Amino acid sequence: MTKENRVILGVLKGVAASDGDGVKLRRYIGGPELDYLDPFLMLDVFGTDEPQDYIGGFPSHPHRGFETVTYLLAGKMRHKDNAGNEGVIIPGGVQWMTAGRGIIHSEMPEQTEGLLKGFQLWVNLPAEHKMTEPGYQEFPPENIPVFDLPDNNGTVRLIAGKLDSGESGPVTNPHTNPNFMDITLSAEGLFTQSMDEDDHGFVFCIDGDITVAGEQVRPGDLAVLGYGEQLQIKGEREGGRCLFVSGQRLREQVVKGGPFVMSTREEVLQAFEDYRSGQF
Ligand code: FE2
Repeated sequence: MTKENRVILGVLKGVAASDGDGVKLRRYIGGPELDYLDPFLMLDVFGTDEPQDYIGGFPSHPHRGFETVTYLLAGKMRHKDNAGNEGVIIPGGVQWMTAGRGIIHSEMPEQTEGLLKGFQLWVNLPAEHKMTEPGYQEFPPENIPVFDLPDNNGTVRLIAGKLDSGESGPVTNPHTNPNFMDITLSAEGLFTQSMDEDDHGFVFCIDGDITVAGEQVRPGDLAVLGYGEQLQIKGEREGGRCLFVSGQRLREQVVKGGPFVMSTREEVLQAFEDYRSGQF
Protein backbone atom coordinates (compact mmCIF):
# COMPACT_ATOMS: atom_id res chain seq x y z
CA MET A 1 0.00 0.00 0.00
CA THR A 2 1.40 3.41 -0.81
CA LYS A 3 1.75 5.84 2.04
CA GLU A 4 -0.08 9.11 2.12
CA ASN A 5 2.41 11.92 1.53
CA ARG A 6 2.32 14.99 3.67
CA VAL A 7 1.63 18.32 2.03
CA ILE A 8 2.57 21.80 3.22
CA LEU A 9 -0.22 23.56 5.10
CA GLY A 10 1.52 26.91 5.03
CA VAL A 11 4.88 28.65 4.92
CA LEU A 12 5.93 30.98 7.75
CA LYS A 13 8.45 33.78 7.30
CA GLY A 14 8.92 34.41 11.03
CA VAL A 15 8.38 37.69 12.86
CA ALA A 16 11.26 39.81 14.14
CA ALA A 17 11.39 39.68 17.94
CA SER A 18 13.76 40.21 20.81
CA ASP A 19 14.19 38.04 23.87
CA GLY A 20 16.53 37.61 26.82
CA ASP A 21 18.68 40.73 27.16
CA GLY A 22 17.99 42.15 23.71
CA VAL A 23 18.85 39.14 21.56
CA LYS A 24 17.43 39.74 18.08
CA LEU A 25 15.71 36.73 16.58
CA ARG A 26 12.85 35.59 14.38
CA ARG A 27 9.90 33.84 15.98
CA TYR A 28 8.08 31.26 13.87
CA ILE A 29 6.00 29.40 16.45
CA GLY A 30 4.60 31.03 19.57
CA GLY A 31 4.11 34.40 17.88
CA PRO A 32 1.55 36.16 15.73
CA GLU A 33 2.01 33.83 12.73
CA LEU A 34 1.33 30.60 14.60
CA ASP A 35 0.47 30.59 18.28
CA TYR A 36 0.95 26.86 18.95
CA LEU A 37 1.75 23.78 16.89
CA ASP A 38 0.95 21.14 19.51
CA PRO A 39 3.31 20.07 21.16
CA PHE A 40 5.61 22.90 19.99
CA LEU A 41 5.08 26.07 21.99
CA MET A 42 7.79 28.21 20.48
CA LEU A 43 10.45 28.20 17.78
CA ASP A 44 12.97 31.03 17.65
CA VAL A 45 15.76 31.26 15.11
CA PHE A 46 18.65 33.57 15.85
CA GLY A 47 21.37 34.31 13.32
CA THR A 48 23.51 37.41 13.27
CA ASP A 49 27.15 38.44 13.06
CA GLU A 50 26.45 41.76 14.82
CA PRO A 51 27.56 41.29 18.46
CA GLN A 52 25.14 43.98 19.69
CA ASP A 53 22.30 41.74 18.47
CA TYR A 54 23.31 38.80 20.72
CA ILE A 55 25.88 39.86 23.31
CA GLY A 56 23.30 40.33 26.10
CA GLY A 57 22.38 36.64 25.83
CA PHE A 58 19.68 35.07 27.95
CA PRO A 59 20.54 35.87 31.59
CA SER A 60 19.17 33.82 34.46
CA HIS A 61 15.42 33.08 34.15
CA PRO A 62 13.02 30.33 35.26
CA HIS A 63 10.89 27.76 33.40
CA ARG A 64 8.19 25.32 34.45
CA GLY A 65 5.97 22.85 32.62
CA PHE A 66 7.79 22.14 29.36
CA GLU A 67 11.15 21.44 27.69
CA THR A 68 13.62 23.80 26.04
CA VAL A 69 15.88 22.69 23.20
CA THR A 70 18.90 24.65 21.97
CA TYR A 71 20.63 23.61 18.74
CA LEU A 72 23.50 25.67 17.40
CA LEU A 73 24.67 26.07 13.81
CA ALA A 74 27.41 28.65 14.50
CA GLY A 75 28.99 30.26 17.54
CA LYS A 76 29.11 29.18 21.19
CA MET A 77 26.74 29.52 24.13
CA ARG A 78 27.48 28.80 27.77
CA HIS A 79 24.55 27.43 29.71
CA LYS A 80 24.23 27.08 33.43
CA ASP A 81 21.33 26.05 35.65
CA ASN A 82 20.47 25.79 39.31
CA ALA A 83 20.45 21.97 39.15
CA GLY A 84 24.23 22.17 38.75
CA ASN A 85 24.50 21.61 35.01
CA GLU A 86 26.95 23.77 33.11
CA GLY A 87 28.62 23.56 29.73
CA VAL A 88 29.26 25.18 26.40
CA ILE A 89 27.15 24.34 23.36
CA ILE A 90 29.05 24.48 20.07
CA PRO A 91 27.83 24.10 16.45
CA GLY A 92 26.14 20.77 15.89
CA GLY A 93 25.63 20.30 19.62
CA VAL A 94 22.26 20.08 21.32
CA GLN A 95 20.94 20.75 24.78
CA TRP A 96 17.53 19.25 25.58
CA MET A 97 16.37 20.46 28.97
CA THR A 98 13.25 19.23 30.73
CA ALA A 99 12.25 22.12 32.98
CA GLY A 100 9.55 20.03 34.67
CA ARG A 101 8.59 21.44 38.08
CA GLY A 102 11.10 24.24 37.78
CA ILE A 103 14.57 25.24 36.75
CA ILE A 104 16.46 28.53 36.60
CA HIS A 105 18.99 28.77 33.80
CA SER A 106 21.01 31.15 31.66
CA GLU A 107 22.40 30.92 28.15
CA MET A 108 25.12 33.41 27.32
CA PRO A 109 27.21 33.81 24.15
CA GLU A 110 30.78 32.66 24.63
CA GLN A 111 32.09 35.02 21.98
CA THR A 112 32.35 38.75 21.41
CA GLU A 113 32.53 38.69 17.62
CA GLY A 114 31.52 36.57 14.67
CA LEU A 115 28.38 34.70 13.74
CA LEU A 116 25.96 33.25 16.27
CA LYS A 117 23.25 31.13 14.71
CA GLY A 118 20.85 28.54 16.06
CA PHE A 119 17.45 27.46 17.22
CA GLN A 120 15.50 27.49 20.42
CA LEU A 121 12.48 25.21 20.53
CA TRP A 122 9.98 24.82 23.36
CA VAL A 123 8.26 21.45 23.60
CA ASN A 124 5.23 21.08 25.83
CA LEU A 125 4.93 18.37 28.50
CA PRO A 126 1.71 16.47 29.18
CA ALA A 127 -0.23 17.80 32.19
CA GLU A 128 0.59 14.75 34.31
CA HIS A 129 4.34 15.28 33.80
CA LYS A 130 4.58 19.05 34.08
CA MET A 131 5.78 18.80 37.69
CA THR A 132 8.32 16.07 36.99
CA GLU A 133 11.88 16.46 38.32
CA PRO A 134 14.01 18.63 36.00
CA GLY A 135 16.07 16.64 33.50
CA TYR A 136 18.85 17.37 31.15
CA GLN A 137 20.26 15.78 28.00
CA GLU A 138 23.26 17.29 26.32
CA PHE A 139 25.20 15.95 23.35
CA PRO A 140 28.27 17.56 21.81
CA PRO A 141 28.49 17.29 18.01
CA GLU A 142 30.79 14.26 18.10
CA ASN A 143 28.12 12.30 19.97
CA ILE A 144 25.40 13.00 17.43
CA PRO A 145 25.42 10.35 14.72
CA VAL A 146 25.52 11.40 11.08
CA PHE A 147 24.07 8.91 8.59
CA ASP A 148 24.53 8.81 4.83
CA LEU A 149 21.30 8.54 2.92
CA PRO A 150 21.35 5.77 0.34
CA ASP A 151 22.46 6.53 -3.23
CA ASN A 152 24.38 9.69 -2.27
CA ASN A 153 21.18 11.56 -1.55
CA GLY A 154 22.77 13.39 1.39
CA THR A 155 23.34 13.07 5.13
CA VAL A 156 21.27 13.29 8.30
CA ARG A 157 22.51 14.45 11.70
CA LEU A 158 20.10 12.48 13.84
CA ILE A 159 19.45 14.24 17.14
CA ALA A 160 16.14 12.60 18.05
CA GLY A 161 13.77 10.15 16.41
CA LYS A 162 14.18 7.17 14.13
CA LEU A 163 15.14 6.97 10.48
CA ASP A 164 13.31 4.59 8.14
CA SER A 165 16.60 2.64 7.96
CA GLY A 166 16.21 1.92 11.69
CA GLU A 167 18.81 4.18 13.35
CA SER A 168 17.80 6.24 16.39
CA GLY A 169 19.08 9.56 17.68
CA PRO A 170 20.57 9.99 21.18
CA VAL A 171 17.92 12.30 22.66
CA THR A 172 15.04 10.35 24.13
CA ASN A 173 11.65 11.74 25.00
CA PRO A 174 8.76 9.44 25.90
CA HIS A 175 6.29 12.33 26.23
CA THR A 176 6.09 13.52 22.63
CA ASN A 177 8.39 11.09 20.76
CA PRO A 178 9.99 13.86 18.72
CA ASN A 179 11.97 13.70 15.52
CA PHE A 180 14.75 16.31 15.37
CA MET A 181 16.97 15.98 12.31
CA ASP A 182 19.47 18.26 10.57
CA ILE A 183 19.32 17.14 6.94
CA THR A 184 21.77 18.00 4.16
CA LEU A 185 20.57 17.04 0.68
CA SER A 186 22.78 16.68 -2.36
CA ALA A 187 21.75 18.17 -5.68
CA GLU A 188 18.61 16.25 -6.65
CA GLY A 189 18.91 14.32 -3.37
CA LEU A 190 15.74 12.90 -1.87
CA PHE A 191 14.90 12.27 1.80
CA THR A 192 11.89 10.14 2.66
CA GLN A 193 10.72 9.66 6.22
CA SER A 194 7.79 7.76 7.69
CA MET A 195 5.78 9.63 10.28
CA ASP A 196 2.93 8.88 12.61
CA GLU A 197 -0.06 10.04 10.65
CA ASP A 198 -1.35 12.72 13.02
CA ASP A 199 1.88 14.06 14.52
CA HIS A 200 2.57 17.73 13.93
CA GLY A 201 5.78 18.67 12.17
CA PHE A 202 7.68 21.35 10.33
CA VAL A 203 10.68 21.80 8.04
CA PHE A 204 12.88 24.89 8.33
CA CYS A 205 15.13 25.64 5.34
CA ILE A 206 18.59 26.59 6.62
CA ASP A 207 20.11 27.18 3.20
CA GLY A 208 20.15 26.09 -0.41
CA ASP A 209 17.30 25.08 -2.55
CA ILE A 210 14.82 22.48 -1.28
CA THR A 211 11.28 21.40 -1.95
CA VAL A 212 9.00 19.89 0.67
CA ALA A 213 6.14 17.83 -0.76
CA GLY A 214 7.01 19.32 -4.13
CA GLU A 215 6.79 22.95 -2.99
CA GLN A 216 9.76 25.26 -2.83
CA VAL A 217 10.85 26.35 0.66
CA ARG A 218 13.41 29.15 0.69
CA PRO A 219 16.18 29.74 3.25
CA GLY A 220 14.66 31.23 6.40
CA ASP A 221 11.19 29.86 5.63
CA LEU A 222 9.38 27.31 7.76
CA ALA A 223 6.99 24.85 6.15
CA VAL A 224 4.20 23.62 8.42
CA LEU A 225 3.27 20.06 7.49
CA GLY A 226 -0.20 18.67 7.04
CA TYR A 227 -1.08 15.18 8.25
CA GLY A 228 0.07 11.99 6.56
CA GLU A 229 2.31 8.98 6.91
CA GLN A 230 5.29 10.06 4.85
CA LEU A 231 7.43 13.13 4.34
CA GLN A 232 9.47 13.89 1.24
CA ILE A 233 12.13 16.60 1.09
CA LYS A 234 14.20 17.11 -2.02
CA GLY A 235 17.35 19.06 -2.69
CA GLU A 236 16.84 20.75 -6.02
CA ARG A 237 19.64 21.78 -8.41
CA GLU A 238 21.90 23.18 -5.70
CA GLY A 239 20.97 20.81 -2.88
CA GLY A 240 20.29 22.33 0.54
CA ARG A 241 20.10 21.98 4.29
CA CYS A 242 17.05 21.94 6.56
CA LEU A 243 15.86 21.13 10.04
CA PHE A 244 12.99 18.64 10.30
CA VAL A 245 11.11 18.42 13.59
CA SER A 246 7.93 16.57 14.52
CA GLY A 247 6.18 15.36 17.65
CA GLN A 248 3.10 13.74 19.08
CA ARG A 249 0.20 16.06 19.80
CA LEU A 250 -0.82 16.30 23.46
CA ARG A 251 -4.34 17.63 22.81
CA GLU A 252 -4.52 19.35 26.20
CA GLN A 253 -5.40 22.77 27.49
CA VAL A 254 -2.40 25.15 27.36
CA VAL A 255 -2.11 28.25 29.54
CA LYS A 256 1.02 30.33 29.01
CA GLY A 257 2.36 32.83 31.52
CA GLY A 258 5.74 34.14 30.41
CA PRO A 259 8.33 31.45 31.20
CA PHE A 260 5.71 29.06 32.60
CA VAL A 261 3.39 26.89 30.52
CA MET A 262 0.76 25.01 32.48
CA SER A 263 -2.75 23.60 32.03
CA THR A 264 -4.72 26.10 34.10
CA ARG A 265 -4.45 29.75 35.09
CA GLU A 266 -4.21 28.71 38.74
CA GLU A 267 -1.17 26.57 37.97
CA VAL A 268 0.53 29.49 36.20
CA LEU A 269 -0.14 31.80 39.17
CA GLN A 270 1.21 29.08 41.47
CA ALA A 271 4.38 28.93 39.35
CA PHE A 272 4.94 32.69 39.79
CA GLU A 273 4.31 32.32 43.52
CA ASP A 274 6.68 29.33 43.85
CA TYR A 275 9.39 31.17 41.92
CA ARG A 276 8.98 34.32 44.05
CA SER A 277 9.23 32.31 47.25
CA GLY A 278 12.38 30.48 46.16
CA GLN A 279 10.82 27.04 45.54
CA PHE A 280 12.62 26.47 42.21
FE1 FE2 B 1 15.25 29.61 28.90
